[in-house]
Amino acid sequence: MAQIEMRNVQKFFGANQVLKDFHLTIEDGEFVVMLGQSGGGKTTALRAIAGLETITDGKILINGKEVQDKKAADRDIAFVFQSFSLYPHMTVRENIAFPLRAVRMDAAERDSAIKEVAETLQIAQHLDRKPSALSGGDMQRVAIGRALVRRPQALLMDEPLGVLDTELREQMRAEIKRLHIARGSTSVYVTHDQIEAMSLADRIVILHDGVLQQVGSPDDVYLHPTNLFVAKFVGSPVMNIADVHIEGSRVALPGDGAGFQFDETTLSKLQNTGDGVTLGIRPEAVLLSQKKSKGYVEAVTTNIEPLGSHDIVDVRLGDTVMRARTESGFVRGEGAQVWVNLDPSQAHFFDNKTELNLRGGA
Ligand SMILES: Nc1ncnc2c1ncn2[C@@H]1O[C@H](COP(=O)(O)OP(=O)(O)OP(=O)(O)O)[C@@H](O)[C@H]1O
Ligand SMILES: [Mg+2]
Repeated sequence: MAQIEMRNVQKFFGANQVLKDFHLTIEDGEFVVMLGQSGGGKTTALRAIAGLETITDGKILINGKEVQDKKAADRDIAFVFQSFSLYPHMTVRENIAFPLRAVRMDAAERDSAIKEVAETLQIAQHLDRKPSALSGGDMQRVAIGRALVRRPQALLMDEPLGVLDTELREQMRAEIKRLHIARGSTSVYVTHDQIEAMSLADRIVILHDGVLQQVGSPDDVYLHPTNLFVAKFVGSPVMNIADVHIEGSRVALPGDGAGFQFDETTLSKLQNTGDGVTLGIRPEAVLLSQKKSKGYVEAVTTNIEPLGSHDIVDVRLGDTVMRARTESGFVRGEGAQVWVNLDPSQAHFFDNKTELNLRGGA
């Protein structure tokens, strides 16, 4: 197993810098998920670790040894791609055995290695079939089996469930997690699906335009986003964002906007930013009431999204529309009068210039 470290890694494709000063240590046995929008550099970072891509500058270390100049074959890292990439003319057994050809192993040893991964992945009954006879989920199990059979130092997966339908994705997600726990292999997993990231990761790495935005546990990135990008990127529906001004212990929304009372200690840190602040508050921290109560501000509902387990209710406060998460059927319809408050402990304030979370991220 392996610890993987990226130190000051820079990667250019021509004039286009795709990884910018990339710093990351992945601990032995850890499951790290790289999350970010398309073109952010996730695949490039993964391919750089595997040695499928050279880096322009910086170092990559595996167990403390520099490997940036080593070939992929000498790094002992397995890679699972989004497309299944199995050899169609080979059986499942031959596909899984393929990486063992370069390794000296007698037949009995090889058979037992294949049997073990096939059993772990529940594809033992398919060993003599061709890939074309398998379902999408089983094909991806074979691809994972082929990656694991050599017992690599680390397993890298680039959107391995991307082509599967929702139900199978959920099932395979649970299996990948189980497999990781059973094997304890250092794993790096790329996705742009945040639910996948949240459910699999020990730590999530959020990438945007080649720059690491935040590295932290799923809770950290959700509860303590370091900047506005992470705040808006993580969570569904997205965090409510509003330009606000601070007036004493009051946070005022734009326009003829409503104001909310906050404790002075929180707000005293925000007074002298100079460039103004942006409020960020998740829908579950926007509190609705059917009747006038202390600290609550009058508003009108503009839209209701019934989602079965809960509703998302849009409320208009002056010029601002905020989305609140409520229990199902809490508000009857659009145009209803409600009262709104914000849970101060879950409010975030971002500097308008630096976009950093002024209450401190993780
Ligand atoms: N071989 C290449 N030659 C030139 N540019 C490339 C090459 N590979 C990637 N890029 C560019 O590098 C940037 C990052 O691409 P990358 O594939 O790493 O992003 P990604 O985060 O994996 O995106 P996606 O979610 O779409 O898979 C993009 O601007 C892409 O066009
Ligand atoms: Mg990619």
